[in-house]
Amino acid sequence: DKANFRHFMAKEIHEQPEVVGHTLARYIDMATERAVLPAELPFDFRDIQRVSITACGTANYAGHVAKYWFERFARLPVEIDVASEFRYREAPLCRGDLAIVISQSGETADTLAALRYAKEQGLHTLSVVNVPTSTIARESEVVMPTLAGPEIGVASTKAFTCQLMVLAALAVAAGRARGELSEADETKLVHGLIEVPRLMSAALATEPQIERLARDIAKRQDVLYLGRGTSYPLALEGALKLKEISYIHAEGYAAGELKHGPIALIDENMPVVVIAPFDRVFEKTVSNMQEVAARGGNIILMTDAKGAAEASVEALVNIVLPDMPSAFTPIVYAIPVQLLAYHTAVVMGTDVDQPRNLAKSVTVE
Ligand code: F6R
Repeated sequence: DKANFRHFMAKEIHEQPEVVGHTLARYIDMATERAVLPAELPFDFRDIQRVSITACGTANYAGHVAKYWFERFARLPVEIDVASEFRYREAPLCRGDLAIVISQSGETADTLAALRYAKEQGLHTLSVVNVPTSTIARESEVVMPTLAGPEIGVASTKAFTCQLMVLAALAVAAGRARGELSEADETKLVHGLIEVPRLMSAALATEPQIERLARDIAKRQDVLYLGRGTSYPLALEGALKLKEISYIHAEGYAAGELKHGPIALIDENMPVVVIAPFDRVFEKTVSNMQEVAARGGNIILMTDAKGAAEASVEALVNIVLPDMPSAFTPIVYAIPVQLLAYHTAVVMGTDVDQPRNLAKSVTVE
């Protein structure tokens, strides 16, 4: 049931404040303001030397964001792999370490194979899945359900932000368990997470502006997405979302990589979506924006009020999101990224919920 929406994808984008709120309530104890670890965890985070995160597509980008969180909050080294690479690259793994797999469907063939491989190597396994009855859920030692509810649109939206919420809470809990976060640090982070559903609702208010922007983007051949830090995986996600449903070629890059190649593409026909909340790497991203502006590129800046005021470049459009603690911006900035892909596809007249050549669940290699 699409409720009053034209597509499942639109409904699922709009559901996010609610479903992410459910996920939050599951993994954050509101009374104690602490992140909740799954009951009877078969390992102690203090004994883990390294975490391997494996997933495909959008789920992989959620894992990529989580790498920054685990490393920052828990001082835990994380390797992030696409499942099809992880399963064949013969990575040296240490018994007793932790493998995390992330999958909406819980049936993705490569991700399942990666899980089985990690298990064979003696790793503890934890899965973040949306379908609790899935094969991946059944075969993992620990399951953390994402509680997004059924996701019908082929392009993943609400499953992604719920994955991020689960992983954020887990990284905070790991930070506490390893003695890397003080009680005050944890409280601060938890307060930040509690705000997320409300901020996501506020982010949905950018929709009319994004709808107008989409009419322009629909005329373009290529789009570049840039971000730094946790906004980097979101740039990858933005490009994936746009290409899979609108069929416009898009690429995501770490902003600092611009001058190592992709800058050659910049001219007055190239829209560049810059995802840059006013955080500790903002100034660095601004210098990349200046490089784009100097070559006539059209900047679409996703930022907050402070960022819009400080950016000092001429942007085609500023999409201004609410102020928030910088750690968790990807969960909120996912919304304008998804809306831009969605509305561009609607203008293009593609089959948004069932884009060509794609399947919701990829059960073959
Ligand atoms: C992109 C998308 C895919 C999936 C990927 C993994 O919008 O939906 O990239 O994220 O196929 O699927 P799951 O999460 O089911 O393992």
